[in-house]
Amino acid sequence: MRPKPRHPRSHCASRTAGITLDHAAALYDWLAPLMTLGSESRLHRHVLPLLDLGTTVSVLDVGCGTGTLTRQIVDAMPPAANRWVVGIDAAEAMIEVAVRKSGKRPGLAFAAALAEDLPYPAGSFDRVVSTFFFHHLNAELKANSLAEFWRVLRPGGSAIILDVDIPYSRFGALCAYSGYWLFRQAEIKENIDGRLRAAIQQSPFANSWRIISRHSGYLSLFKLDKPKQKKERET
Ligand SMILES: C[S@@+](CC[C@H](N)C(=O)[O-])C[C@H]1O[C@@H](n2cnc3c(N)ncnc32)[C@H](O)[C@@H]1O
Repeated sequence: MRPKPRHPRSHCASRTAGITLDHAAALYDWLAPLMTLGSESRLHRHVLPLLDLGTTVSVLDVGCGTGTLTRQIVDAMPPAANRWVVGIDAAEAMIEVAVRKSGKRPGLAFAAALAEDLPYPAGSFDRVVSTFFFHHLNAELKANSLAEFWRVLRPGGSAIILDVDIPYSRFGALCAYSGYWLFRQAEIKENIDGRLRAAIQQSPFANSWRIISRHSGYLSLFKLDKPKQKKERET
């Protein structure tokens, strides 16, 4: 493979080995539907019901990009005074676009931050979500980010992940390998080889995850639960 071009990175993005997209922020909303062959909004429609937005108060969208899903989440929640939806991304240019596109939506915030070092106390969120994010992380960052998902979730909370996974059709394999060759991104190949599943299985979520559905021949929608603490045994 030819060497990858080096793109300029914002201060926050330069602190991670993740594949960050400051350079693509201005065009991302045009490119994302093309890269998902027009299925981006259909896929979001599968994610939203899994977040139980009628009763959920706090949601963290990790690797939120320009915040398309983050806005859909806050718009689907009842306007409770305590609702709190946060989108984080390592690329500061992505966060700037997300803030500009979001206008004033009570309870919605964006921040430049790293998935592997989330700036929130333990148990802060009811839900954590990430879409098309884990194929930007190497194996070590996948593990560290999953540990952070676990830490910032409250007991009884859950994480929803939509990402590249082991292809299950020829069309899916074509799409997944095309992405790998086009972007020359070893992290995509790791997902194709099942490394995301392996990372989940080795994470604190090991005994409480499942694949909810599969899409487009190569994507999986995962649900990872953080069980409620067991009640103290009554004497
Ligand atoms: C393909 S985009 C996905 C954006 C959005 N979630 C979507 O579904 O369209 C992946 C994003 O992950 C961000 N990213 C990469 N490494 C990261 C890290 N370590 N922490 C936070 N964000 C990261 C990139 O900057 C990029 O915006």
